[in-house]
Amino acid sequence: MATQESTAAKMAGSPHGIIGRPVARIDGPLKTTGTAEYAGDFHLPGMVHAVPVQATVASGVLRHLDVSAAQAMPGVLEVLHRGNIERIYRAVPNDPNATVSETRPAFEDDRLYYWGQYIALVVAETPEQATAAAAAVKAEYAAETPDVRRELEPFAGKWHTVSERGKVDDALAAAAVKVDQTYGTPVETHNPIELHATVAAWEGDRVTLYESTQGVVNHRNAMAQILGVPREHVTVITRFLGSGFGGKLFPWAHCALAAVASRRVQRPVKLVVTRTMMFSNVGHRPVTEQRFRLGAGADGKLVALQQDALNHTSLVDAYDEGCGEATPYLYSVPNLKVASALVQRNVGSPMAMRGPGAVPGLFAMESAMDELAVALKMDPVELRLKNDAVKDESNGNPFSSRHLRECLETGSAKFGWSRRTAEVGSMRRDGKVLGWGVAAASWGAYRFACATTVELGADGRARARCATQDIGTGLYTIFAQVLAEKTGLPFERIDVLLGDSSMPEGPLSGGSWSTATVLPAVAEAAEGAIASMLAVASSTPGTPFAGADAKTLRLTEGRVHRASEPAAQGVPFEQILKKARLNRVSADGRSGSAFEDPKARGLSMHSFGAQFVEVEWEPEIARLRVSRVVTVIDAGRIINPRAGANQIKGAVVMGVGMALLEETVYDPRNGQPINANLADYRMVTCPDTPQIDVTFLDYPDYALNSYGARGIGEIGLAGVAPAITSAVYHATGVRVRRLPVRIEDLLRSEIRQA
Ligand code: MOS
Repeated sequence: MATQESTAAKMAGSPHGIIGRPVARIDGPLKTTGTAEYAGDFHLPGMVHAVPVQATVASGVLRHLDVSAAQAMPGVLEVLHRGNIERIYRAVPNDPNATVSETRPAFEDDRLYYWGQYIALVVAETPEQATAAAAAVKAEYAAETPDVRRELEPFAGKWHTVSERGKVDDALAAAAVKVDQTYGTPVETHNPIELHATVAAWEGDRVTLYESTQGVVNHRNAMAQILGVPREHVTVITRFLGSGFGGKLFPWAHCALAAVASRRVQRPVKLVVTRTMMFSNVGHRPVTEQRFRLGAGADGKLVALQQDALNHTSLVDAYDEGCGEATPYLYSVPNLKVASALVQRNVGSPMAMRGPGAVPGLFAMESAMDELAVALKMDPVELRLKNDAVKDESNGNPFSSRHLRECLETGSAKFGWSRRTAEVGSMRRDGKVLGWGVAAASWGAYRFACATTVELGADGRARARCATQDIGTGLYTIFAQVLAEKTGLPFERIDVLLGDSSMPEGPLSGGSWSTATVLPAVAEAAEGAIASMLAVASSTPGTPFAGADAKTLRLTEGRVHRASEPAAQGVPFEQILKKARLNRVSADGRSGSAFEDPKARGLSMHSFGAQFVEVEWEPEIARLRVSRVVTVIDAGRIINPRAGANQIKGAVVMGVGMALLEETVYDPRNGQPINANLADYRMVTCPDTPQIDVTFLDYPDYALNSYGARGIGEIGLAGVAPAITSAVYHATGVRVRRLPVRIEDLLRSEIRQA
């Protein structure tokens, strides 16, 4: 991947010390040596394997299941189905601390709602035996014709108003310049490299679940309800996650199946969801279809904006993608209406995918803005600057920190936007036609409750514990940076223990809020542990500090010393613990949700960004490539610009896939996802990856937390796809409003090589 480490270089001389310095992730060696343990890596003594049987129709009724042949096959312990499985309970609806993905438990009734729905589960000694036996289960269906159409209009159902101000109808009618277009995004399937997996092991009436989850605490709470056991009897372990992108936020049906199977056979059970099952059973970004109407004066000032957004959902859940997420506050416009509605299809339940709502919503809005710029004959950067909002017009609140203007201006300068000529097909380089496009980006900034424990041990190490998880984004390292900052210890003497639901409760890894959430709690815990250490020093006979006022003592570079003296004259803290005959000192840190924080109340908190994209178009061979991306991100203070830039680059790459490649396709006859593997579901690989220049503006947002950090997991994907399709238009004259861009679309181009 050709990239520029501009941010890392800029931050290398940062005055913040370890906070804000580009550091390698502390768990890197475990990953590069293959010793990091993912859920599927746990091999327990006596463990057996479970493989689900999937329905081969997407609508209808399961008439009969014949498991006799499967039951008799070698190694088979049990074939579970609706007729013999013990009760799987539903989780309490709308319990925010026990959320599930698909509310209907497996085997609950004989209805079939989508292709691939689980209808039985084989448990066998080996994965091969279980797979073979699963294939031998025979099902009879009363099949009905499924509805898996991508088109969501015509829609006659009920619309729900998301946000409204002014009189949008009148303003649209009176506007000098208008855009009225419909934009579509397809089903995209989460494809983290790590497959979903559960290893369930009971000991008496207690169960340990090794899980691929983005939330060990939520998972524990939900599984306790589902299994009908007390919360304290469930432990969920996720030491490492091979990414989730939202698909692993909450438990899916297979998690309960593995746990119930393990309880039945009284052996540990491993269930690994196959790549093909991942296309039907564990969520996807739903189809969206959005009509956008923009009205502006001849000067380019927006006067009206209306967004009508549909997304599909399953027959068993009402998943709202929330395409209006960024619309109400991104631009200044006096008359606005955002409405949304759901359309049912015979597909598994959709689930949040990186930047849910905002990403498809911004594809539509930023595409419409580009079309407005063309209609106005106005530069698209200038159009956005002209409509920049100074407050959140959806509620009148000030922004805690908003630098969209600077994102656009900085990106414009770095990209060389002033050299752009507006005419379609007018820019050439090395025999290729160039297209340049731009889009704005936004994503919410959140902080939730978190508890953390920090201890200073007699082994001379500092240790943090928190029941959150590192989903591959660098959270272990964030904890280590705070401990290093507070104690002065090097990373080699710091342990960070995450991914165990029995630890103090930390956040779900979602919504880009983990870093902003954990920082204040771990800082408070570290300060508490240090205060406890200094109190011990001042009260332990035989130390040089006995009888001193603890307030006059400091802990620096791992040594206790008097504030008036350098750290070198102090005593390593572990020696003081030995003298005091203590194993450790420790303290808890706690922080609350931003929603309950007076400092954050009444503020509109979001991250912003600007995406600048260059595409190369070769008309003779209909070859289109994204060649260059400049991305400027305003996400508060960046704690680790190295891992941060990595997040943004990964998101940009995902955006290239969204614009040009990704689409899950269903067979209209039986509702089966027909490209359900990594060969046929096309994703970006290294040759498709452009040069990516990441810049962080690095303005601390102290309303969100004392470090001023927001989140960076999702903002990097926002705006990438519309910047690409705008660049495609600039190069080819073809406006693609239905993703992904296909060669068939581009063949309509009338641009020929000069
Ligand atoms: Mo993210 S889609 O909240 O994991």
